[in-house]
Amino acid sequence: MSKLPLDRILQSQGFGTRKWCRELIEDGEVSIGGETVGDTRSTFETDGLEFSVYGEPWQYREHVYIALNKPADYECSRKPSHHPGVLSLLPEQFALRDVQPVGRLDHDTTGLLLMSDDGSFIHAQSSPKRHIPKVYVATTHEPLTPRLVEQLLNGVKLHDEPAPLAAVVCRMLDTHQLEIVLEQGKYHQVKRMLAAAGNHCVALRRTEIGGLKLDALDLPEGAWCYLDEAQRALLAQS
Ligand code: URA
Repeated sequence: MSKLPLDRILQSQGFGTRKWCRELIEDGEVSIGGETVGDTRSTFETDGLEFSVYGEPWQYREHVYIALNKPADYECSRKPSHHPGVLSLLPEQFALRDVQPVGRLDHDTTGLLLMSDDGSFIHAQSSPKRHIPKVYVATTHEPLTPRLVEQLLNGVKLHDEPAPLAAVVCRMLDTHQLEIVLEQGKYHQVKRMLAAAGNHCVALRRTEIGGLKLDALDLPEGAWCYLDEAQRALLAQS
């Protein structure tokens, strides 16, 4: 439990500098429980606090944990160069509170992308030691064969990787569609593994991380949602 002055609360939630947040309050743009709060020094218990800024409702969150259904042609990098960044799909408050993607998807990869401003969560999710399975559906240029599936399960050697990399699960969904589950997150890993096995990936979608399924979130492409504690717990499941 912690009680904080309203200007600090707004700043922590990504509404701008302390000075800017004070101006918002003094201009009557902030209300709590339906009442405008004009005094920047009023203090509030942050746990469970609901407030509105410019009439838009917000809930205080110490950290945010977000799932985005990433569309193609968005970059995960903080300084995108050829396409807009994924942060442009979220309210601007999130960039100001330093929300970042957890790992990266290529600009043309779609599907489940986690984002957060909680450094320990980002670190834990990205740690190779945790072996969190990630499920991808790859569409290939050439028809799939049992031999290719076997190669991916046995491991393929990639340039710059000391040991062969193998899929934990790999199964054909269709003549040109493959489900592949990886526990590592190497650069362009699915695409490079498919290329090493003699095929070419023409489309890639991430559908699950740990036990969290994108379908269960019911997010249209480009949409996002907060993840609650139970959903975050699913992320650790294999
Ligand atoms: N593997 C790839 O090749 N690209 C991604 O975006 C994710 C995994």
